[in-house]
Amino acid sequence: MAFKFAVIGCGGMGRKHSEVFKAMGKDTVTMAACCDLVPEKALAFQKQFGYFKTYTDYRQMLEEIRPDIVAVTTWNAAHAPCAIAALEAGAHVFCEKPMAMNAAEAQQMKETAERCGRILQIGFVRRFDTDAAEAKKLIDEGRLGDPVYARAFYLRRRGCPGSWFGNKPLSGGGPLIDIGVHVLDLARYLMGNPKPVSVFGTVNDQVHLNCAIAGVTSPWETDDPNVSVYNVEDFVAGEIRFENGATLHMETSYNMNLESEANNVEIYGTKGGLKLNPLELYTEIGQRLINVPVRPDNPFTGIGYENEDKHLIDCILNGTSSMASADDGLQAMKIIDALYESGRTGRSVDL
Ligand SMILES: NC(=O)c1ccc[n+]([C@@H]2O[C@H](COP(=O)([O-])OP(=O)(O)OC[C@H]3O[C@@H](n4cnc5c(N)ncnc54)[C@H](O)[C@@H]3O)[C@@H](O)[C@H]2O)c1
Repeated sequence: MAFKFAVIGCGGMGRKHSEVFKAMGKDTVTMAACCDLVPEKALAFQKQFGYFKTYTDYRQMLEEIRPDIVAVTTWNAAHAPCAIAALEAGAHVFCEKPMAMNAAEAQQMKETAERCGRILQIGFVRRFDTDAAEAKKLIDEGRLGDPVYARAFYLRRRGCPGSWFGNKPLSGGGPLIDIGVHVLDLARYLMGNPKPVSVFGTVNDQVHLNCAIAGVTSPWETDDPNVSVYNVEDFVAGEIRFENGATLHMETSYNMNLESEANNVEIYGTKGGLKLNPLELYTEIGQRLINVPVRPDNPFTGIGYENEDKHLIDCILNGTSSMASADDGLQAMKIIDALYESGRTGRSVDL
C-alpha cells in the first residue's frame, strides 16, 4: 500500500521534496496534504503536485489526514513543534536542516521519535551526494588511515538569502546554523560520526554593522525586496575536538570580505587525505604523495535531494535506521550551540 505523504511548509524546500516524492509514483506515495501559514502557497502546491487537501493549521492536517510520512520544510523555528506533532500523530518525519533552533529542541525531537518508534531523518543532503558517497567508500576502505583533521568551509561574500534567514527569532542564527551546518555535518560524517567533546569559536557581526554605518542599507546580495531584518551573525570560525582526538576546523559566512566564495570539505588522515567537489585523493605511491583526481567529472550534483528521500522510504520499508539520524542532527546542534556560546564568552566550551 502506498504511503500517505504530507508536507508542512510550501516554500522552496517544500517544492523540492514534493517533486521528489511525486516522482516516486502513486504506487509508492500518494500526495495526501500540504500545509502553509499562507493559504495561497498551499493552494499553489495543490495545483502543481495534486495534493488531495490543503491546510493552514498543521495540527488539523495531522488529525484529519493521519499521514505516514511528513516533510517539515518550514523556517527553522517551526521545525521542532511540527516534527514533534507529526511523530506523535504516528508519521515518520523528514525534517530539513538545521534540525532545530538549538540542542534542547533537538533532544526533545529525538526523544519523541524514540518514544513513538518512528524515523526522524534530518535533511543533511550533502551526505547523499555522489562525491560524498565515493569519499566515504575510500575512507571505509582505509585509504586515509584514521581521519585526524578536517577542514570545512562554506563562505559567502554578501550572501544572506534574505526573507526569514536574517531574522534570528525565525532562523536561530545566521550562516552557521543555515549553511555552515551542511559542511560541519558532512565533515563529521566522513570522519566516522565522532562525538564532539569541546568547541572553541569566534562569531562576528561587524561587517553588516559597518555596512549600516556606511549607509549601505542592504549589506547582502539578494533579489528579495522584502528584506528588512538582519540581526544574525556575519561569520563564524571554530575548532571542534572529538572524543577520538580528531579535530575539525570550520569557517562559514554570509558576509565576509573575501577574495571569492568557497564551499568544501577536506579530510586528512594518518595515511592519506582527500577533498570533495570534485573528489581528489592524496595518497602515497612509491614514497611520494600523489594527487589522484578520483571523479573530476562528478562534483556536487544536487542528486542528494532525491537520494535522501528514497533513503527514508527504504528505511521505513526495511526497518533500518537512517544514515542522517536524529542523533546526527542533535550532535550538530550541540556543536552549533557551543560555537555561539564560545563566541559570546571568548572561552572554550566542553560538551
Ligand atoms: N537542504 C538544503 O539544501 C536546504 C536549502 C534551503 C533551505 N533549507 C532549509 O529548508 C527549510 C525551509 O527553507 P525554504 O528555503 O524552503 O524557506 P521558505 O521561506 O521558502 O519556505 C518556508 C515556508 O514555511 C512556511 N511556514 C513557516 N511556519 C509554518 C507553520 N508553522 N506551518 C505551516 N507553514 C509554515 C512559510 O509560510 C513558508 O512558506 C529551512 O529550515 C531551511 O534551512 C535546506
